[in-house]
Amino acid sequence: MEAVGVLMICRSLLLLLLPVLAAAETLQTYIVQLHPHEGGREAVAAAESRLDWHGSFLERSVSWEQERRPSSRLLYSYHTVFDGFAAQLADAEAAALRALPGVASVRADRRLELHTTYSYRFLGLNFCPAGAWARSGYGRGTIVGVLDTGVWPESPSFDDRGMPPAPVRWTGVCQGGEHFNTSNCNRKLIGARFYSKGHRANYPTNPSEAVSLLEYVSPRDAHGHGTHTASTAAGAAVAGASVLGAGAGEARGVAPGAHVAAYKVCWFNGCYSSDILAGMDDAVRDGVDVLSLSLGGFPIPLFEDSIAIGSFRATARGVSVVCAAGNNGPARSSVANEAPWVLTVGAATLDRRFPAYVRLGNGRVLYGESMYPVKTSLKKGGKDLELVYAVGGTRESEYCLKGSLDKAAVAGKMVVCNRGITGRADKGEAVKEAGGAAMILANTEVNRQEDSIDVHVLPATLVGYREAVELKKYISSTPRPVARIVFGGTRIGQARAPAVALFSARGPSLTNPSVLKPDVIAPGVNIIAAWPGNLGPSGLEGDARRSNFSVLSGTSMAAPHVSGIAALIRSAHPSWSPAMVRSAIMTSADITDRRGKAIMDGDGGRADVFAMGAGHVNPARAVDPGLVYDIQPGDYVTHLCTLGYTHMEIFKISHTGVNCSAVLQKNRGFSLNYPSIAVAFKNGAKSAVLQRTVTNVGTPNSAYTVQVAAPPGVKISVAPTTLSFVEFGEQRSFRVNVEAPSPPAAKDSAEGYLVWKQSGGEGKHVVRSPIAVTWVVE
Ligand SMILES: *[C@@H]1O[C@H](CO)[C@@H](O)[C@H](O)[C@H]1NC(C)=O
Ligand SMILES: *[C@@H]1O[C@H](CO)[C@@H](O)[C@H](O)[C@H]1NC(C)=O
Ligand SMILES: *[C@@H]1O[C@H](CO)[C@@H](O)[C@H](O)[C@H]1NC(C)=O
Repeated sequence: MEAVGVLMICRSLLLLLLPVLAAAETLQTYIVQLHPHEGGREAVAAAESRLDWHGSFLERSVSWEQERRPSSRLLYSYHTVFDGFAAQLADAEAAALRALPGVASVRADRRLELHTTYSYRFLGLNFCPAGAWARSGYGRGTIVGVLDTGVWPESPSFDDRGMPPAPVRWTGVCQGGEHFNTSNCNRKLIGARFYSKGHRANYPTNPSEAVSLLEYVSPRDAHGHGTHTASTAAGAAVAGASVLGAGAGEARGVAPGAHVAAYKVCWFNGCYSSDILAGMDDAVRDGVDVLSLSLGGFPIPLFEDSIAIGSFRATARGVSVVCAAGNNGPARSSVANEAPWVLTVGAATLDRRFPAYVRLGNGRVLYGESMYPVKTSLKKGGKDLELVYAVGGTRESEYCLKGSLDKAAVAGKMVVCNRGITGRADKGEAVKEAGGAAMILANTEVNRQEDSIDVHVLPATLVGYREAVELKKYISSTPRPVARIVFGGTRIGQARAPAVALFSARGPSLTNPSVLKPDVIAPGVNIIAAWPGNLGPSGLEGDARRSNFSVLSGTSMAAPHVSGIAALIRSAHPSWSPAMVRSAIMTSADITDRRGKAIMDGDGGRADVFAMGAGHVNPARAVDPGLVYDIQPGDYVTHLCTLGYTHMEIFKISHTGVNCSAVLQKNRGFSLNYPSIAVAFKNGAKSAVLQRTVTNVGTPNSAYTVQVAAPPGVKISVAPTTLSFVEFGEQRSFRVNVEAPSPPAAKDSAEGYLVWKQSGGEGKHVVRSPIAVTWVVE
């Protein structure tokens, strides 16, 4: 109350200054969050009165001299995932607005990016949830909403043969626009919308051109990323899917029976929070069951993170929100989209390889990978070509940036290009433009042995850092170095997989180390899925080839795999909460690879819990987890209280008032019922007690016994050590005591696990939680 009084005084001062300041300043987009309307939500349920309410804030803060109608500054009005709006404001106007009673927060719009490993231009599927399909009817009756670059509706992956009509609860629309109308939706693609206002506002010079020149002002996908992710989650089965002949096989989404709704929020220059929130606001109201977001930024506090804020109420309304963890690995604490109510997904490799060896003139053969179509490549790359590297002697030419290559020096030759700075396919285009005949992409220390491949416009292969060092040594050792690329087609089962992709973002979470993130890993390297039929599979303008499929890598590709699994679980268990769905996916995850050995990291070592969370998703087990850890929306608020968030910070996330001292008094010793266990010891703390509650979703009359592998240097005891259930749906609680007399030398984290093994009944359920202990030095 006191704070409000002070704010009122500030407000009158600021209003006086406004007209002067606003004239000199440019406008930018702000997202404004409001306190619930005094008249209650019912009073503003009608769209008109809601707009009036939102507009009234603008009328009080926008400089009247500049505008005929302050409401012309309004971009979006939000009312499902939170109450508020997005508007274009001068800095001083934003400050004035911030001071108005009823305003909870005003924050600048933020540009986020797609979580593919390189720009937007990318391109597999042999990840078979066969057992899960039978149990869930292939995801029938569920709706997966995909927030991305839109959709290419003509793709065979969105064919609706055999699909039932959209569920009756569905209230979404098929929004028309450039090259898109209602006839583009069907029983598979049941909805499509687009959101460009936030994006346009960032191109003030000629906003309409900035969007329309480069892409369709409609839900139609001009990039391919959205088509790819949507088809990965819930695409129909397409026989004989290949990328220009490579990787041929059946392509189908993880939940081929589920419906898809596309929300286009990303444009050529990225994805703006104001557009993303508008998409989430509609999607939740439209009736999606799962929201898939393959985009994000760097980790920021939850109360400033639009995805965290938008997904809080989405989750409370029963929508499972699945997000990509980001591609800033292997750096520690790089994981984004880390809110405890979302499912955060890292990327793993598949056991499929596309070998394309480099045979050097000295007879040495270096392993490389490529998806260049086999037939043509034999003709073009199959003979010895002169090898060149850094022909201009410049750093730009080492990385094959556009225009950096001397045409006379590269014409007809095989050009070595370092990875980095520009997109991988862009380098291929640069080499081709300069007259080069073939390309070898060379990993640097940064990429090590990471092998995300692309469709290139010329014969090309990608070699690891070790191979790159040998390659460059050879080039400098001989006056006329030569090499040829030998393409090996598609090989399955050649590699140890899954393994964590080097680029996959890692924990511990920067903003909240007491929840382990990422939650799981899923296939995200060299994934073949649907692609706009009018684009070359490289996504580049210079690519005249056409393909209905392409190959892409990134946590962007991993997230929709998990969205598909969530749809399968929702279909099998319609009454489950998002927390139950996530618990099922986490506690059933694999921690061993196909060879039965520990999952490896792209780094070469064993993958730790900060790289893979609970492990690699296993859809067949996830639909029948035995026990689940459920969480009520209010528990997340209590959790935020335990983290010391202020009343106002929590309000920005939960949109409800909370008195943390009262909440904490009522919930002494509270711990969030998360399916993984993360303990962050701060300020020399040596012990912690955690509570967990499991719900029996397996068989009646079942019993479970605990098994614990304590992290090195940590003592863990669990009580009770057995849990018995008579009924289905029954709950049992247990306590986990964690004691760490002293942190292990030279380490700031340690890991272990806790498993509930079913002893009675069919004895088949194994409910596993990873344990992560970190010591935070402050
Ligand atoms: C949608 O567009 C197609 C192709 O332009 C056209 O043939 C069709 O009549 C349009 N349908 C509607 C309902 O406008
Ligand atoms: C892509 O799919 C469309 C629709 O099924 C089909 O007509 C077209 O021939 C396919 N294109 C290629 C290159 O396979
Ligand atoms: C919050 O709760 C505490 C403990 O119940 C109480 O003493 C305090 O007055 C409450 N604060 C507010 C602002 O309501």
